[in-house]
Amino acid sequence: MKFLSSLTKKDLQNKICLLRVDLNIQNADLRGQTRGTTRKQNWHLRILAVLPTIEFLIGNGAKVVILSHRGRPQKVSSIKYQVSSYTLKPFAKILSSLFKKPVHFIEGTTFHAWNVEGDIFLLENLRFLKDEEENSGKLAKQLASLGDIYINDAFAVSHRKNASVAAITKFLPSYAGLLLEKEIKNLDKAMKSPKKPLIVILGGAKISDKIGMVKNFLNRADYFLVGGGMANTFLAAQGLPVGDSLYDKNADLRGLIRGLTRKIVLPVDVVIYKRQILDIGPKTIEKYLKIIENAETIIWNGPMGYIEDKKFRKGSEAIAKAIIKSKAFSVIGGGETASIFQNSKLKTQNSKLFLSTGGGAMLEYLAGKKLPGIEALN
Ligand code: 3PG
Repeated sequence: MKFLSSLTKKDLQNKICLLRVDLNIQNADLRGQTRGTTRKQNWHLRILAVLPTIEFLIGNGAKVVILSHRGRPQKVSSIKYQVSSYTLKPFAKILSSLFKKPVHFIEGTTFHAWNVEGDIFLLENLRFLKDEEENSGKLAKQLASLGDIYINDAFAVSHRKNASVAAITKFLPSYAGLLLEKEIKNLDKAMKSPKKPLIVILGGAKISDKIGMVKNFLNRADYFLVGGGMANTFLAAQGLPVGDSLYDKNADLRGLIRGLTRKIVLPVDVVIYKRQILDIGPKTIEKYLKIIENAETIIWNGPMGYIEDKKFRKGSEAIAKAIIKSKAFSVIGGGETASIFQNSKLKTQNSKLFLSTGGGAMLEYLAGKKLPGIEALN
């Protein structure tokens, strides 16, 4: 794999760089940012994370054409709704205000070469074109014709075999961007050479992906601390009642139940509301914090409860605080989990903490799967 960080001004000056990023952020999570009322450090992680690469390219005299998807617009029938919910237009304004220079938004989806003077351009949501998700060579070639170099800085979508992530690498010299490089290095450090004890904390939904990860870590991790829908799935598999709680009744737990008592630690008490388990209870928090205290490496994906409601955030916040205090090298991923560290007083300068921009991509990577976006660069 070739890294953008190995290129210099000589390689980049006057080059047009196609930069694939992941700006898949819902309108609700953008509010203050489009109005320009949010302080920079509170901007969405996925926006902040791609700034260094754009700065690096501009600083070395390149022009940047930003490519991204947003949401899953093909699944929506009305074109008007598609465009209003999923357009990337607001990001041109956001990035312009961050860079204090115009970021030109290229409307429509025909992407003919355009004639605007400037350094930074943003194309419309590539998923407005069905060819994107079909990994079409035709679309990849068309996109490639707009630039000289391709850079993948979209770790979070590298598990999708999409035209602007995979097929495009056939048509241009291709590099991993600064963010993708950082993601791979940090995840590899936690997965391939972790200092022990290694504690894996798993909660939230996307249960089958997380089970894949547990299987890949069964011999590497010392403990799995489980909460949220993941815990409910294990509890239900043991025949315990979970009421109307979120769980996956089809989860394939073969090979895990045997190891349950030793490595997989389940809640000993929970918070229940309207027949649903919505958080881990105080005894469980205490038990989990004791284990975290001794950790040298921590991986966390998925909240312990329904954190959208403040009442059910206690478990996740207690864990976040313990991680900030701990000496461990920690990798945190999944949008919701990372947001616990981003939103509140928990904001941290702890340099041993890495917030991954990946959700599903992080899980697949840690489950030992090969990600098409990364394979394409290899
Ligand atoms: C994500 O948010 O996980 C990525 O942007 C991928 O989005 P997708 O699950 O819609 O492909």
